[in-house]
Amino acid sequence: MCGIVGCIGQQNLIPFLLESLEKLEYRGYDSAGIAVHNGDNIEIYKAQGKLENLKNLLNDTFKNDKNLKSGIGHIRWATHGAPNQINAHPHSSFEEKVSIVHNGIIENYKELKKELTEKGFEFKSQTDTEVIAHLLEDCIKDENNYSNAIRTALKKLDGAYALGIIFKDNPEILYAARKCAPLILGVGEDSNFIASDVPALLDYTKRVIYLEDNQIAVIKGSSYQIMDIDGNILDKKPEILPWEPVTISKMGYKHFMLKEIHEQPDVIRQTLFDKLHTVSDPLVLKEVKLTKETLEQLDRIQIIACGTSLHAALVGKYLIEEFTGIPVDVEASSEYIYKRTVISKNSITIGVSQSGETADTLTAIRQAKDNGSHVLVITNRPDSTMARQADSMIPVNAGFEVSVAATKSYSAQLMAFYLLAIYLAEVKNTLSEEYIEDLKKELIQLPQKIEMILSNKDKIQDCAVKFHNTKNFIYIARGINYPVALEGALKLKEISYINATGYPAGELKHGPIAMLDETIPVLAILVPGKVYEKVLSNSEESKARNANMIAVTSEDNEHLEAVFDYIITIPRTNEVFSPILTTIPLQLLAYYIAEFLGKDIDQPRNLAKSVTVE
Ligand code: F6R
Repeated sequence: MCGIVGCIGQQNLIPFLLESLEKLEYRGYDSAGIAVHNGDNIEIYKAQGKLENLKNLLNDTFKNDKNLKSGIGHIRWATHGAPNQINAHPHSSFEEKVSIVHNGIIENYKELKKELTEKGFEFKSQTDTEVIAHLLEDCIKDENNYSNAIRTALKKLDGAYALGIIFKDNPEILYAARKCAPLILGVGEDSNFIASDVPALLDYTKRVIYLEDNQIAVIKGSSYQIMDIDGNILDKKPEILPWEPVTISKMGYKHFMLKEIHEQPDVIRQTLFDKLHTVSDPLVLKEVKLTKETLEQLDRIQIIACGTSLHAALVGKYLIEEFTGIPVDVEASSEYIYKRTVISKNSITIGVSQSGETADTLTAIRQAKDNGSHVLVITNRPDSTMARQADSMIPVNAGFEVSVAATKSYSAQLMAFYLLAIYLAEVKNTLSEEYIEDLKKELIQLPQKIEMILSNKDKIQDCAVKFHNTKNFIYIARGINYPVALEGALKLKEISYINATGYPAGELKHGPIAMLDETIPVLAILVPGKVYEKVLSNSEESKARNANMIAVTSEDNEHLEAVFDYIITIPRTNEVFSPILTTIPLQLLAYYIAEFLGKDIDQPRNLAKSVTVE
């Protein structure tokens, strides 16, 4: 959460700060701010709300000022203190000698605030960040140089930080530091940069250094030095990014979410491209570095993830157990990290994360790794902290996802699990060759089947019209589609703010059925297979309580018509692959309901795309 940027030596300083913050808007959008050094003083501009408000605050003469020395910028997702202008970053020290931008959380800020207040420092904001600014000013008084002061201050902080720091009396240097929050140094020709994430820098440089925990960068316009927290100088060379600048365009769609939903067929083709060559050849997962011996002995898997990635993991559990018989435990990362870490002997740990930066999942996989587990990461960001710390990876190739609500990255994660489950079945010989070939044939047909759903959205839009004023929504399914019910409900909650809950269909009668009446729609996912009849009879039970019934199904028959008010049909597929198809109407339904309600679909309130605080 929160995005930070910084720059020194760049003539177009303000355009850099604003353009790079725009690329980080997915990290937060409560408020934005910049601090620039004009050679004599630090000037600060902040605005509540979206970046656009900050842009409107700055006049053109200032925006084009070529004489500014250095600058830092911030886009906020509030943790401590309301999202208002006072709490917006950058924050300055008492005598305004230091200005900083911060991503992360300082856990001991209350103790530090007390100490600093006793020393006479006055606080203006409710943020944890402000203590760092005052602490730095306090440390400069005692230290003979700026990096020593920074090191002394950082040693007093507990928690996570990515920091950009400028000092009033030292205009030629920009400082940066990192612990448990992402931070990159971009190396240019006569200017250098910092940013929380790569897209912010790609228009300016492709030469980057990923700072590691407890590292400090001392950055001038044409040189830089990296040291550890004890002041030892480190030899870190830039790596060249293989990517082109990210064009953030809606390509004619009204929202990024709708565009990303429509990209899913191609995302799936792309995921299969280098892994599934022919149906008779074994799958190629070249970044999975598990030895043959480990794979043969593998008898347990634990998967850790959050949010939508957790739902993909639940589908993954079903698949791996179904195809290989290996027991799989799935746990929310935020729960995993506060229990005893139990790693069984022949097990591996899988972390699933679109961003590869989610703090809870990062901590969880570190714990698993520290306890001796092989860690495999399924991520859309092969350059992320998680990917760098993992032993193995399955990159999911969904491309840059702008909308805060995950859609195409989720489908790509599901594909990663299909490939992994089949791969394990091939290595461990748990399925017949014929069945594996059939599975692969079906996989190849999935993109076309999604295209069929996307080209026929009328029924979904009808449902959205009918139910957009509903206060409560229930999603039910069983088996492999149960996680899809959870995901459908999450999508609706996130972007429309309607209360939606996913249940295993069989659980309805154990309590939730008490809520049902004519005001509540129940959406049931039912595809032919092991649980079709059961979900149908649970739907009948709901119908008998006057609920409005919606089906997402590949069937179309009189029996369904008698139970359901709306039937959204999807193409037929093997039950195990149905989550890839059943997900699409649920994403669209959430989208159209939120659109009818006029919500801020791509940037829903209170959310951010990369959740880097625990
Ligand atoms: C929902 C959503 C979130 C994320 C969750 C984990 O649409 O995007 O629930 O899935 O914050 O994020 P990652 O996958 O980046 O670890």
